[in-house]
Amino acid sequence: MEFELTEEQLMIRQAARDLAQNEMKKDIIERDEKQIFPKDHVAKMAELGFLGMMVAQEYGGSGLDTVSYVIAMEEISKIDASCSVIMSVNNSLVCWGLETYGSEEQKQKYLVPLAKGEQIGAFCLSEPEAGSDATSQRTTAEDKGDHYILNGTKNWITNGNSAETYLVMAQTDVEKGHRGINAFIVEKKWDGVTVGPKEQKLGIRSSDTNSIMFSDVKVPKENRIGEDGFGFKFAMKTLAGGRIGIASQALGIASGAYELALAYSKERKAFGKEISRHQAIQFKLADMATEVEAARLLCYKAAWLKDQHQDYNLAGSIAKVYSSEVAMKSTVEAVQIHGGYGYVKEYHVERLMRDAKITQIYEGTSEIQRIVIARSILN
Ligand code: CAA
Repeated sequence: MEFELTEEQLMIRQAARDLAQNEMKKDIIERDEKQIFPKDHVAKMAELGFLGMMVAQEYGGSGLDTVSYVIAMEEISKIDASCSVIMSVNNSLVCWGLETYGSEEQKQKYLVPLAKGEQIGAFCLSEPEAGSDATSQRTTAEDKGDHYILNGTKNWITNGNSAETYLVMAQTDVEKGHRGINAFIVEKKWDGVTVGPKEQKLGIRSSDTNSIMFSDVKVPKENRIGEDGFGFKFAMKTLAGGRIGIASQALGIASGAYELALAYSKERKAFGKEISRHQAIQFKLADMATEVEAARLLCYKAAWLKDQHQDYNLAGSIAKVYSSEVAMKSTVEAVQIHGGYGYVKEYHVERLMRDAKITQIYEGTSEIQRIVIARSILN
């Protein structure tokens, strides 16, 4: 067993750390407050190859491993979970799905610009009445021979407004249930695509989250991904990898809060000494350090399994459910250690606490992860 990071992984960590600490941190409070999309930071992530990290170089990606991706996600999430969710969705849900299951034509036309970060993508599965219960898709795609006609509404779509390419799941044959679902590549600029207003969110406020409406959108048949009826499996397989991305986002939020709390505890004095010298604070810091390290190892393990082409479904769900709980706990404790200062924006921990919550909700709630874990261990 090897616990050392490679030279390349260390370099990626440094590059991601520099970007987050030196660039993203500067305007994060204003972007969070005003819900400003981080256009310049997304461009910088593209320049560094962070938007198509695991995509082969021949398709415009960086050709790196999943462990490197987890490392970069942690560093960026320590500061800016809005930037990291944009990065995670583009890498895990859009680029991975296209590279693994797309046709050569689809890869040339759509994957290359997405992996280079010239465009960003969105993954459109959730609906007003189909969140956790993802098989209950109401969006329909009617087969018209050489094309489909797409109708329906998708909710909570990360990158909804900023993406140019959507991967959309829709029901083509209700009789067949989940085996009648297909996945389609849809361009935002096509007639009949309407983007709803940006949601006003508790956390990850700088990233775009929108509803997308499809009204009689003509989708060429060559834009269907895989065989007829593959859409639900496509979504499940893609989400299994996506959960490693969100687990590492949660890890970054947790470790970012821990690092801020540790630094503050060494500066702030109470009762004649630094608060880090009081056992009440030491116990909190010790628990945070322990849990962050455990979350990190779970994320690395899930990523390693994926890199070894082994089954990572269970490991990804375990990493996500645990890391997202650690993110909540660690950020609440970081606010507590900061006292009144933790409750105001300048100290960053209140934002991390708000950002942490979504990691227990999206890409499969903690309850869904427990279902996936239970099914896996019971079967
Ligand atoms: N890989 C491959 N196939 C899978 C799979 C996986 N990981 N998980 C399920 N399947 C297959 C099953 O084998 C089954 O196929 P067959 O019938 O052919 O055998 C089919 O999918 C249906 O599976 P289930 O019978 O288990 O379906 P279910 O309805 O009982 O439960 C679920 C499935 C696990 C609860 C699933 O609906 C689920 O994961 N829900 C959560 C959805 C989710 O994560 N949404 C997130 C939205 S995207 C997002 O948040 C992105 C963003 O913007 C940040």
